[in-house]
Amino acid sequence: MLKGRHYIEPLDLSKEEMEGLFGRASEIISKPDEFRDLCRGKILATLFFEPSTRTRLSFEAAMLRLGGSCLGFAEPGSSSASKGESLADTIRTVACYADAIVMRNPKEGAALLASRYSEVPVINAGDGGHHHPTQTLTDLLTIRQLRGEIGHMCIGFCGDLKFGRTVHSLVDTLARYEGIKMVFISPRELSIPDYLSTGPIARNQVEVHFTDSLEKVIGDLDILYMTRVQRERFFNEEEYIRLKDSYILNKEKMLLAKKDMTILHPLPRVNEIDLEVDEDPRAAYFKQAKFGMYVRMALLSSIIA
Ligand code: NCD
Repeated sequence: MLKGRHYIEPLDLSKEEMEGLFGRASEIISKPDEFRDLCRGKILATLFFEPSTRTRLSFEAAMLRLGGSCLGFAEPGSSSASKGESLADTIRTVACYADAIVMRNPKEGAALLASRYSEVPVINAGDGGHHHPTQTLTDLLTIRQLRGEIGHMCIGFCGDLKFGRTVHSLVDTLARYEGIKMVFISPRELSIPDYLSTGPIARNQVEVHFTDSLEKVIGDLDILYMTRVQRERFFNEEEYIRLKDSYILNKEKMLLAKKDMTILHPLPRVNEIDLEVDEDPRAAYFKQAKFGMYVRMALLSSIIA
């Protein structure tokens, strides 16, 4: 039962609970009319202290398609946070108006803090460079729908593995599936945080490889998870400029990949996937954005209705 629960870190949901959501999401995809009144009369608040396109709009679209309504802000400058109000007070207040709160905040741990002050469920839509659990639900639903199962595959994570919260959440979650090999492709400066290597990866004895060359490993991958270098989390602009174009996926590199490799990207893309790759049938990142709305419909209807 997910009703009334917060969703702050990916592993707050068991494997079985996630499977239930994916099952519900595929029912929604095939019979959307049966779900269109599930959240009638309910209100979702979306509080975005950081920019967003897909996460905020897919949550709002999900709520509207379930018959519910939305309120909130996309710009902290328009909220009382800009007058110096604490996060705790903002959350206590919004919890008086809404049935659930979706929040994105630049500070790691902000969603957990919010959940301690909220009378209604809080869903983490990204807390700094830490976690982004509903992107993981999106990624896993995409893998399940396009490849038939989650597990028994070699997945390469490429780009900013240090600050990329979508990578952190996906690694944490995939580590508990069977037969997963992970290849981490990044410059040394942007490698995966130690807490993931010593935590879920070691605990589940996941087979991992580290490299700084995409060309060398692309032929081994079933899934390539590309990411943007997270400019907003760098302390130093020169360092960002030096690292920002470390990897660019183009047609030439795609010639080295398996015929059925799936390319995922949480988006937004900056430079790391050449536009010419969009035509390739292996490019799944816009489908992934659509699956994000369906899995959020499954999540919201389970938490709120
Ligand atoms: C990601 C994020 O916000 O972490 N975007 C998203 O939610 N789809 C990835 C990114 O910003 O690079």
